[in-house]
Amino acid sequence: MSDSGAPAAGTARLHTEGLTAGYGDIRVIQGVDVEVTSGTMSAVVGPNGAGKSTLLKGILGLARVFEGQVLLNGEPVTGKPLEQLAKAGIAYVPQVDDVFDSLRVRENLEMGGYLLDKATREARIEEVLEVFPDLRRKLRRFVGSMSGGERKMTAFGRALMLAPSVMVLDEPTAGLSPALTQVVLGEQARVLADRGKAVLIVEQKAKAALELADWAYVMVQGRVAMSASGRAVLEDPDMAEVFLGGGSVPAAPRATG
Ligand SMILES: Nc1ncnc2c1ncn2[C@@H]1O[C@H](COP(=O)(O)OP(=O)(O)O)[C@@H](O)[C@H]1O
Ligand SMILES: [Mg+2]
Repeated sequence: MSDSGAPAAGTARLHTEGLTAGYGDIRVIQGVDVEVTSGTMSAVVGPNGAGKSTLLKGILGLARVFEGQVLLNGEPVTGKPLEQLAKAGIAYVPQVDDVFDSLRVRENLEMGGYLLDKATREARIEEVLEVFPDLRRKLRRFVGSMSGGERKMTAFGRALMLAPSVMVLDEPTAGLSPALTQVVLGEQARVLADRGKAVLIVEQKAKAALELADWAYVMVQGRVAMSASGRAVLEDPDMAEVFLGGGSVPAAPRATG
């Protein structure tokens, strides 16, 4: 958005305060505080079942919120439906069903911008192609015939069509090889942040995500066990334990600068 480097008027901030969310009567995540701002990538990592997807669903009005708030630029948006959040500038790329396999890349992008008039839609497609130039020569390809990395690029492109300020990505590398994981995180998700988006990403592939994230939250059993720079989490011996599958939980939540 801004390339002046100044704290732009358009700077976005999405954060949660004490978010407790779940399904039915079950509180899956408890008292979670996370934050992401324009031009940065915040990663939520942690073992399978820790509540990472539930956190995203709580943020996106797709899970029940028991307590706490979700705020966009300081305004509460807790429990608002996805369409309303989309209009407010929050795009969500789910783990699955993020593209239409039976449609071409261009058609997927058009679907992402179906709310727009034709001229704006076409202009936005050009903007997406500036962010992801590799998509240009694939516009006529059917998504079902593409690699996992190309499909994710299409999904990100589709989400970009409404020019969001915040992008919420749920495990974009699920099912991908280590090589494609590097491509999707390093050359796609990171590019979104470098282009000024506030990127909140959930990843089970912790090491790859932590190496690229500006800030990280480690979730264990529904709570944030550590909040620190990606590098600090990578170097923390307790966290290594968490990711090596031991699942031993640090005694108390802590925050490290
Ligand atoms: N729709 C649902 N209804 C009830 N329980 C759910 C639902 N989705 C997830 N859960 C439970 O919430 C817990 C956390 O799941 P999830 O948020 O998907 O974790 P993660 O994304 O970290 O793997 C799990 O115990 C899971 O069984
Ligand atoms: Mg998940």
